[in-house]
Amino acid sequence: MNRWANFLLLVGAPLLGAQCTASNVPSLKVPSCDQGTGSVQYDKSVPNGQGKFPLTQVDLCYTNNDIKITFTAFEEINFFYNESHTTNDPLYEYEVMEAFIYHGTNDPKSYLEFEVSPNNVTWQAFIYNPSKVRAESMPFDNGQLKTPIFDGLVTSTELDRDAHIWVSNASIPLGLFNVDDGEAKGTQWRMNFFRTIVSPDTFPDQGLGAWNPTNMSNFHMTPFFGKVLFV
Ligand SMILES: *[C@@H]1O[C@H](CO)[C@@H](O)[C@H](O)[C@H]1NC(C)=O
Ligand SMILES: *[C@@H]1O[C@H](CO)[C@@H](O)[C@H](O)[C@H]1NC(C)=O
Ligand SMILES: *[C@@H]1O[C@H](CO)[C@@H](O)[C@H](O)[C@H]1NC(C)=O
Ligand SMILES: *[C@@H]1O[C@H](CO)[C@@H](O)[C@H](O)[C@H]1NC(C)=O
Repeated sequence: MNRWANFLLLVGAPLLGAQCTASNVPSLKVPSCDQGTGSVQYDKSVPNGQGKFPLTQVDLCYTNNDIKITFTAFEEINFFYNESHTTNDPLYEYEVMEAFIYHGTNDPKSYLEFEVSPNNVTWQAFIYNPSKVRAESMPFDNGQLKTPIFDGLVTSTELDRDAHIWVSNASIPLGLFNVDDGEAKGTQWRMNFFRTIVSPDTFPDQGLGAWNPTNMSNFHMTPFFGKVLFV
């Protein structure tokens, strides 16, 4: 073994240590909608899942053409959104629930980001994030879907202010990920789910939560995406 191999072994150990959190990601099995749903709940904050976060649930299933996602925000206080916002406005500065979705198994450089706000407005784009962690001075670009409703990316939203619950259903066409109609069974995905909380008093300082919390206040870290199998 030469000097360099030894050196690499030495520096390799801490690097692998740092990646441990990311490689040990959660997984979820998702059935077809006539069989039920696959569900996750989370109540840990970003970064690192250190703090308590309002309980959030995501239920998924698939049909012939779509991924169906139900986002449920429990313990919602503010229902805070910007009334002037419409499709693809910066909803993410306020309160949103989000899914990052990639068809494949590796840590992706490109994935769909989908967001819905308490007033049923959506933001949707394919992200290009070649550093996989939104590294400074690396490209971080997106291509937005301009006609989501016509595309079949449709939501419905109900707020129950007394019960502090906000539910948004979303249909996300499988075709966006080159999965042909009826071909979803057996496909493998990487996904993460997020929620932001902020009130008029604390704006723009948000609380962040995630299914698999990233290790920085940055959702765009794809080594943290969980593994999802359509069964
Ligand atoms: C955060 O996770 C990324 C991706 O696994 C890793 O490269 C980085 O070293 C981690 N950073 C910290 C501060 O732990
Ligand atoms: C809502 O957004 C508009 C345009 O982006 C901005 O001018 C306005 O200040 C925002 N309102 C609130 C309540 O944050
Ligand atoms: C929400 O938006 C969708 C389009 O994405 C629309 O069909 C629906 O009627 C809207 N309203 C509610 C209350 O869900
Ligand atoms: C979401 O979909 C479920 C299942 O189809 C339905 O029971 C529920 O009423 C829907 N909620 C909203 C807000 O559209």
